[in-house]
Amino acid sequence: MSTTVRWGVVGTGGIAHRAVGDLQLCENAEVVAVCSRDAASAASFAQQYDIPIASGDFDALCASDDVDGVYIGIPHGVHFDYAARALRAGKHVICEKPLTMTSAEAEELQRLSRENSAFILEGMWMKFTPAFHKLRELLAEGAIGEPALVQAGAGYPVPVDGPRRFWVAELGGGALCDLGVYTIALAHSVLGDPDEVVVRGTARTDGVDLQEAYTLRYASGALAQLVNSITTFVPPAGWLGGSKGCIVLDEPLFAPRSFRLVTGTPPARPTTTEFTFEQEGAGYVPMFRAAGEAILAGRLETEVHPMSDTIAVLRIMERVRDALMAEGELVPAP
Ligand SMILES: NC(=O)c1ccc[n+]([C@@H]2O[C@H](COP(=O)([O-])OP(=O)(O)OC[C@H]3O[C@@H](n4cnc5c(N)ncnc54)[C@H](OP(=O)(O)O)[C@@H]3O)[C@@H](O)[C@H]2O)c1
Repeated sequence: MSTTVRWGVVGTGGIAHRAVGDLQLCENAEVVAVCSRDAASAASFAQQYDIPIASGDFDALCASDDVDGVYIGIPHGVHFDYAARALRAGKHVICEKPLTMTSAEAEELQRLSRENSAFILEGMWMKFTPAFHKLRELLAEGAIGEPALVQAGAGYPVPVDGPRRFWVAELGGGALCDLGVYTIALAHSVLGDPDEVVVRGTARTDGVDLQEAYTLRYASGALAQLVNSITTFVPPAGWLGGSKGCIVLDEPLFAPRSFRLVTGTPPARPTTTEFTFEQEGAGYVPMFRAAGEAILAGRLETEVHPMSDTIAVLRIMERVRDALMAEGELVPAP
């Protein structure tokens, strides 16, 4: 019985360089191939990371018996096409966030995963971090009582001549796809599906959202207040509040190395407990390890971030985007 999953890395850009080292750190993963639209770029990446196969042909990679799964690290707008081709070829897929541009596309990938008995995971590494694991444990124990408020943000000014994925609508440009996916995933993990979405912000007429502040309201009365931007700095941090206390998540929200649990009802003085966490590699190791464990156990999804969560978060993103385009300030696309 195999004890490792043989991965092909797709894309040779920013995230591929950060992720490949973490895949190589996983005891249940072996990086056997890299694929680029440019064979020379694949060859140079393969040499840099000592990867045996360099390919300039994605479909050939998917047809190869030497590869069990692919890690897709390319712009959001092309995720669906690449992930669907891999799943149809029976290859397991870990694909960067957001998995797809629409919830319908994610539903289709889930269907293809089941049809072809191939594993699927959106690269929502935040949820696999030790900090998030501890957070879930504390919430389940009732450490802050019933969570009723979540506040989180993430944003930074991206130069207009910066990576195209931020500015090209077809590639998934905008703050929501790049950063909102994290803040919404946090709110969804704690509070679930909102009843109401209220948004203020600015978007270009082509759909590239520049910044938004939005409130998700839940049937229980709970609220999440979230902010994302690609034009303004927003600290990538957040907090969760409940009747007995709160948890303050330190930066960066995507992979906090520490957070504080503050409990105590006035007039008692609050008690603060600090939790600190070790990071393995660049922070993606726990996610890659969990994917390998699921695949080797014959599962099609992970328990930590199942496709139902990916789809639910994409649905919330759609509601936020629709409300922003309907009620926000629209500025002309260049
Ligand atoms: N998890 C995280 O912490 C994190 C951090 C940053 C980004 N991301 C995610 O990773 C993904 C890629 O981000 P990135 O910053 O690495 O992007 P990037 O550098 O702009 O592009 C990555 C690579 O994708 C390939 N590519 C570009 N356009 C393509 C197209 N139209 N069709 C097919 N391949 C194309 C290129 O590789 P080749 O030239 O080799 O084909 C490029 O080098 C995004 O979805 C982003 O959200 C995640």
